[in-house]
Amino acid sequence: MSGRDHRGREVDPIPEQIAYYRARAREYDEWFLRRGRYDRGAEANRRWFDEVEIVREALDAFRPAGDVLELACGTGIWTERLARTAERLTAVDAVEEMLSLNRDRVGSPRVDYVQADLFAWRPDRRYDAVFFGFWLSHVPPERFEEIWSLVAAALKPEGRFFFVDSRYTPDSTAIDHRLEGSEATRVTRRLNDGREFRIVKVFHERERLARRLADLGWRARVEETPRFFLYGSGERSSGTA
Ligand SMILES: C[S@@+](CC[C@H](N)C(=O)[O-])C[C@H]1O[C@@H](n2cnc3c(N)ncnc32)[C@H](O)[C@@H]1O
Repeated sequence: MSGRDHRGREVDPIPEQIAYYRARAREYDEWFLRRGRYDRGAEANRRWFDEVEIVREALDAFRPAGDVLELACGTGIWTERLARTAERLTAVDAVEEMLSLNRDRVGSPRVDYVQADLFAWRPDRRYDAVFFGFWLSHVPPERFEEIWSLVAAALKPEGRFFFVDSRYTPDSTAIDHRLEGSEATRVTRRLNDGREFRIVKVFHERERLARRLADLGWRARVEETPRFFLYGSGERSSGTA
């Protein structure tokens, strides 16, 4: 799949991105656990897990309590952590295979699952906190504002968000993935069986992202770990609805 139509124009990436995650669901955790094609050797793997710990501690300090919404929950790597502090958790993902793996992993009656395309979904109530892990980088640049307006629509007036995502680092992805230039927004991803998909991957840069969020009416703190992750939290600036 090239991600281009017969005239060479980029097509809407969302259906192919969803198809990719459907096909990848069962092998998804290999990325996070640094297994198979994502195993970069003991030293690099140790650094990865050390940095995961930094983000986990930041999330614990943020304390996602009350009624929490998780966007693009995937297999539950973060859902299981959110479920510890949330009174109620709504976990949304477009891919049934992901939701099923998540249910098996988390197994909590306090988690409600919603299968929905986030570009077509609107929350029916407001939450105390919204979390999204490795989702922002898959939002097409032209839909950046749309997703932040979804976050705004999902939060109570005093509500807060927390996100984590990828920094532009060559040894984060699989050994057989080519890292495009840092400005590229579409990348080719391969599965263990060799199938290829064209998806969106935007590597946000800390200061620029913080400025863009401020322009959109957020008071946001964006931080990064030494090599792998970008993470941040925030709330609406006073005076914005
Ligand atoms: C990189 S994974 C992140 C999963 C999880 N948050 C994590 O950190 O492990 C991206 C997730 O977004 C989901 N996804 C992709 N496109 C989506 C869409 N349009 N609407 C909702 N979920 C989508 C995928 O199914 C996948 O679970």
